[in-house]
Amino acid sequence: MSAPDTRDPASGVDTTGHEWDGIRELNNPLPKWWLYVFYASILWAAIYWLVMPAWPLASTYTKGWLGYSQREAALADRDAALVARAAHGAPLLSVRPDQISGNAALLEFALANGKAAFGDNCAACHGAGGGGAKGFPNLQDDDWLHGVSIDQILQTIRVGVRSSSPDTLGAVAMPAFGRDGLLKRDEIVNVAAFSRTLSRLAPDPSADLEAGGRLFATQCASCHGAGGEGKREIGAPRLNDAIWLYGGDQKTIVETLTNGRAGVMPAWDGKLDEATLRSLAVYVRSLGGAQ
Ligand code: HEC
Ligand code: HEC
Repeated sequence: MSAPDTRDPASGVDTTGHEWDGIRELNNPLPKWWLYVFYASILWAAIYWLVMPAWPLASTYTKGWLGYSQREAALADRDAALVARAAHGAPLLSVRPDQISGNAALLEFALANGKAAFGDNCAACHGAGGGGAKGFPNLQDDDWLHGVSIDQILQTIRVGVRSSSPDTLGAVAMPAFGRDGLLKRDEIVNVAAFSRTLSRLAPDPSADLEAGGRLFATQCASCHGAGGEGKREIGAPRLNDAIWLYGGDQKTIVETLTNGRAGVMPAWDGKLDEATLRSLAVYVRSLGGAQ
């Protein structure tokens, strides 16, 4: 008895011996190219495991011979982008900051760049679009605590107010008259009521306005001016307008006088590049009115 012929009579190719309803499976070899790609991918995987970060371990992972790290690559990309952005902003450095708005192309660039940087760095405190909040000045109004010119605004952004910078603005703060025992409770009520009259707000009817006025002249005028017009040089706000940093109702003014106020604006010099600082000054200036 000879071995059964396992070849397919039609093609002459060997079969695997599997048969379904008389249909037999041909035993064609895998195409060579397919096989080589298969072996190559196995080899590739082995090499990849060795050179790239691959296998998770208990508390770390295999770092691979190349020591590649996506985090470091992303940081390098970010640094490159910052350098590119700084280079992009270079034309802003070719003129004085207060001349930027005189050049349409520079102005357009500064406004777009400043708007983006404002959203990233400033909006958390000053509100999107610079609308402000209690204790964080509205940058859209025409009242400026520390100056309205591009150079003054740029300086405010650079050094901050009561910040950690040695050049910071805000040498004085609003004293805590109540907490430090400088004024008694009823004196605070009186001078608070009087300061409301400076901006034509109805005073607390129970307050002694005359006594309040005398106190204002001796305790407040040195910083806020005799008529409450404020003093820009020391960052003491105007009290005779309708714009309030903390609030102009009797209760808030009493609170201001009792515990004092010392708003802090961080310094940005060194944290943002020069072109971005200038863009921010131009953008912020564009939000608010003149004085
Ligand atoms: C941590 C909160 C905070 C951040 C962030 C911040 N600021 Fe301020 N900023 C303040 C406070 C508070 C003041 C008011 C200081 C004071 O009481 O005099 C101020 C004041 C200012 C002023 C002066 C306004 C005036 O009336 O003269 C300008 C301009 C300004 N900020 C711009 C910016 C810009 C631009 C950024 C982003 C780069 C920024 N600020 C980020 C808190 C902040
Ligand atoms: C040493 C200077 C100084 C003296 C004296 C002083 N202030 Fe002030 N005052 C300031 C400064 C600076 C601020 C702003 C604080 C800030 O920006 O956080 C301020 C803020 C205020 C505010 C908040 C204004 C707002 O927009 O919300 C009121 C109200 C005020 N002062 C009233 C008074 C009254 C009334 C007196 C007198 C009893 C007085 N101050 C005395 C420096 C002074």
